[in-house]
Amino acid sequence: MATLTRPENKARTFGENLESDLAAKFLRVVENAAIACARTMGQGDRPLSDKVATESMRQSMDCLPMRGVIVIGEGERDQAPMLYIGEKVGADFPTGPDVPEVDIAVDPLEGTNLCATGAPGSITVLAASERGGLLHAPDCYMEKIVVGPSCKDAVELDAPVAQNLKNIAKRLRRGVEDLVVMVLDRPRHEQLINDIRRAGARIKLIGDGDLSAGIAAAVIGTGVHAVMGSGGAPEGVITAAAIRCLNGYMLGRLIIDRPELEERIANMGIKDKNKIYEAEDLAPGKQLIFAATGVTEGALLKGVRFFGEGTRTSSAIMTLKTRKVRFIDSIHLDKGPDVKVRFA
Ligand code: FBP
Repeated sequence: MATLTRPENKARTFGENLESDLAAKFLRVVENAAIACARTMGQGDRPLSDKVATESMRQSMDCLPMRGVIVIGEGERDQAPMLYIGEKVGADFPTGPDVPEVDIAVDPLEGTNLCATGAPGSITVLAASERGGLLHAPDCYMEKIVVGPSCKDAVELDAPVAQNLKNIAKRLRRGVEDLVVMVLDRPRHEQLINDIRRAGARIKLIGDGDLSAGIAAAVIGTGVHAVMGSGGAPEGVITAAAIRCLNGYMLGRLIIDRPELEERIANMGIKDKNKIYEAEDLAPGKQLIFAATGVTEGALLKGVRFFGEGTRTSSAIMTLKTRKVRFIDSIHLDKGPDVKVRFA
């Protein structure tokens, strides 16, 4: 795995060029984390997979020319040794008015179980923005619907499932029976799954990873047309950053079902617990960077492949202001001068 070197002491503004500049650097952060935790694939050791990804991400992030703050991370400071909410990351070179202030939301390994069991769909992922550009979502569930650009405003969180599917099918110019909906395989989704089945759509039940599923739903050709159901609210914010870059559409509502959560959202200044969020509310930044690398094979990203002399990774990097969506196939020639590169 390549190590990142500390930047020179140069003051930069978080302008258009820097968005592109940081995006390339964040690419290395998610690539490095994916390569590190992919080595633990199938070991059946969830904590180890997560620890390896988190440590790698923390280490790589500390070499970036920024004053970063983790706004969504591994948990509160007393629960997480690193990448905890509020932790400062970035190279500690002298600060000045032009040093970029960056808010960062990380999920060092989304789909820890998937990696630990070698199942498809795990990714290393982060989103970044200028200060205040990502909602500091509490660690609770969120009801979500995620669809692609053609289905903007075609779904409602409180509409009957059959109606939403009918609207999606109409926008995609096909029958409901041609749709594929991704749903987390959870007992709480029993009714939702029954409703989708009754409406006639096809379902892909996933063990984990509604974030990568959401991104797949916003990209044509992945064979996924919508994601429905409840998953983590922090994952919802990171999904929203990608959805904005992809011109997709997303609705979310926090599930506040415990008194301590009521208190938490009140402290966070959230007045309406029933508010329906769109992607712009969850990730309101003017500048957003989304970066993800596949750990195990997924609908959008391939998993990490080790081929003896090197390593191959598949990533997506998106920026909002500079309007770029890049799918990056990297070959890491780390093991010497004679490594052979294969085209595909
Ligand atoms: P982790 O990778 O952090 O384990 O999260 C995986 C995940 O499946 C998310 O994709 C999803 O939003 C959330 O967990 C769902 O939570 P739960 O497993 O409690 O239903």
